[in-house]
Amino acid sequence: MARQQRTQVGIIGAGPAGLLLARLLKLNGIDSVILEARSRIYVEARIRAGVLEHGTVKLLEEAGVAERLHREGLVHEGVELGLDGGRFRIDLAGLTDKTITVYGQSEVVQDLIAARLAGDGPIVWEAADVALHDCETDRPRLTYRADGVDHELACDFIAGCDGFRGVSRSSVPASRLRSYEQDYPFGWLGILADVPPCSEELIYASHPRGFALASMRSPTRSRYYIQCGRDEALEDWPDDRLWDELKRRLGPDVAPHVTTGPALEKSITGLHSFVCLPMRHGRLFLAGDSAHIVPPTGAKGLNLAASDIHYLSQALVSHYARNDSTLLGAYSDQASARVWKAERFSWWLTLLMHKVHPEGSFAEQMQRAEIAYLLSSPAGQTVFAENYVGLPF
Ligand code: FAD
Ligand code: PHB
Repeated sequence: MARQQRTQVGIIGAGPAGLLLARLLKLNGIDSVILEARSRIYVEARIRAGVLEHGTVKLLEEAGVAERLHREGLVHEGVELGLDGGRFRIDLAGLTDKTITVYGQSEVVQDLIAARLAGDGPIVWEAADVALHDCETDRPRLTYRADGVDHELACDFIAGCDGFRGVSRSSVPASRLRSYEQDYPFGWLGILADVPPCSEELIYASHPRGFALASMRSPTRSRYYIQCGRDEALEDWPDDRLWDELKRRLGPDVAPHVTTGPALEKSITGLHSFVCLPMRHGRLFLAGDSAHIVPPTGAKGLNLAASDIHYLSQALVSHYARNDSTLLGAYSDQASARVWKAERFSWWLTLLMHKVHPEGSFAEQMQRAEIAYLLSSPAGQTVFAENYVGLPF
C-alpha cells in the first residue's frame, strides 16, 4: 500500500523551472511538493547556462532570491561579435536601456534550493519511477518511490518541470501533442577553468574553422566553447588541443589574453531546436525544457524556463486567489508566443555564427555579408540587442 500525501501543486523536477515555480507559489500561500530524480549534490553541481536576461533577474528579485546574485553576478552592458579576428561591440545598454547578468545556473539553483529548504516546503531527492495519473480529471496524482517506499501524491495540478528527457511530456498521449524540431550538424565543446576571462564582456566569434564563444562565471573563472562535430569524443580533445583551437578561432587580438589552465569540467553538447504544443494537457502544465529546447547560442534556455514560470505562477495564483482560471486557459498560448520568438533568435544566431556552409560557397558569402551588415547597421544591432537582453514577459 502506497503512503498517501496531498498537495496543491505537484512539481516534477528541481531544475530552475520547478524550483522557481515552487518559490513563487509559496510566496502566494500555495503549497507544493517537488519530486526530483537526482541527488541534491548532483543538481547543485550541474554546469549549464550562465547569462541571465534583465527580466529573469527581475523575477528572481520578486522571488526574494537575488541577494547573492546582486553581490556576485557580473552586470554586462555590452557583448562582442568577432569576425575574421576583428572585434565589434554591441552596446546592449545604449541600444535597449537594459543589461544582462552573468551568474551561473548552478548558483541560481543553489539559491533557490536554500530558500526552499529554509521553510518553503519539501523536495523529495532521488524520487524514482515518478509516474503521472489522471491528468485529464480534476484529481491528478503522482506516484513514486523514495527510500524504498511507494508514495502517492494527490494534487490539484501537476507542473512538468522535468527537462527535455523527463517523464511529463512523454506521459501525454502522442495524439494530443504536436512537436516541431530541428537538429544542427554540430555540437559545442565546453571547458570551465579557474583562470581569469580573456575579455570583460562575452565574445561570440565566427571563424572559418568554426564558432567560438568566450564567456565567464566570475573574475577568476572562465567558460569557453568551440563548435565541434556532434559525434566527436571528449577523449579526442585533450586540454592543450582545445586551448590551441580556441585561441586560433578567437583571433590574434584576443588569443594573447587567453589564460589557460586545467579543466574543471569539459563536455560536448548537441545543438537542437524543439517546441511541443500545447504546453498543457488537462491539469498537467509543461514548463521549461520539458516543453522546448533552444541551441545555446542565444543564451535563452534558462531564461525561457523563467518566463514560462512567470506565466504559470501568475495563472495558478489567479486560480487560487480569485477563483479565476482564465490565465490557466491562456498559459500555453501566452508562454509559447514568447518561446517562438526566442526559438527564432537562437536559430538565427546559431546559423549566423557557426560554420554551416562549404568553404567558398555562395551561401558562405551570404552568411559573411549578413554578419558584416549587422556590424555596420545600428538598426541591425538594435534587433540583436533587444532579443539578447530578452523580450518583455
Ligand atoms: P532542467 O534544468 O533540465 O531541470 C529538470 C529537472 O528535472 C532536473 O533536475 C532533472 O534531474 C529532473 N528530472 C528529469 N526527469 C525526471 C523524472 N522522471 N522525475 C523527477 N525528476 C526528473 N542554456 C543556456 O542558456 N546556456 C547554456 O550554456 C546551456 N548549456 C546547457 C548544457 C546542457 C548539457 C543542457 C542539458 C542544457 C543547457 N542549457 C543552456 C539549457 C538550460 O540549462 C536549460 O534550458 C535549463 O536548465 C532549463 O531548466 P528546466 O528547469 O526546464 O530543466
Ligand atoms: C555560458 O556562459 O555558459 C554561456 C554564455 C552564453 C551563451 C551560452 C552559454 O550563449
